[in-house]
Amino acid sequence: MDIPVHPSNVFLIGPMGAGKTTVGSMLAKAMGREFLDSDAVLQERTGVTVSEIFEHEGEQGFRRREREVIAELVERKNIVLATGGGAVLDADNRRLLASRGTVIYLRVPLEAQLQHLRADRTRPLLQSGDPEEVLKRLSLERDPLYRELCDYQVNMDGLTARAACENIVEWLDQTPGLS
Ligand code: S3P
Repeated sequence: MDIPVHPSNVFLIGPMGAGKTTVGSMLAKAMGREFLDSDAVLQERTGVTVSEIFEHEGEQGFRRREREVIAELVERKNIVLATGGGAVLDADNRRLLASRGTVIYLRVPLEAQLQHLRADRTRPLLQSGDPEEVLKRLSLERDPLYRELCDYQVNMDGLTARAACENIVEWLDQTPGLS
């Protein structure tokens, strides 16, 4: 495994509905770090929602803005960062995440994902078409990227956010040079 440049940064990757934001904020508290969410930062900066960015600038416009925010946030130290589910599609994002912190993949089974996202109106990619089909297609494309990029995976199946957080803290504590 490569030695991370900023070992104290923790980056959470994984699909929509895996619990990156919930686990990430708990983890930050447990580790005494600052928590950031790339979508939330983007929304704060632009003053509009992710859905509105998709609507006015398309997915391409959103990805460009997402890339800029991630490139800036990874320069910080001692942060826990939750990234959007599609952040790993971009090769620059992957390179930066891999080199500037420890990357943790939150895996979630399709059924649990669907349950979390059933009534969701904030994810533009799920507002048209059959959510199950969309999530399956995204997973086929992205799961190999998540796996390739991560230093550690947590299977969220049946885990509470707290249990996932404890699992990650334990792994970080056991892994030399990371905590
Ligand atoms: C996206 C996931 C969302 C958000 C945007 C696109 C994706 O973030 O970035 O709606 O492409 O999977 P979450 O993973 O936090 O839901």
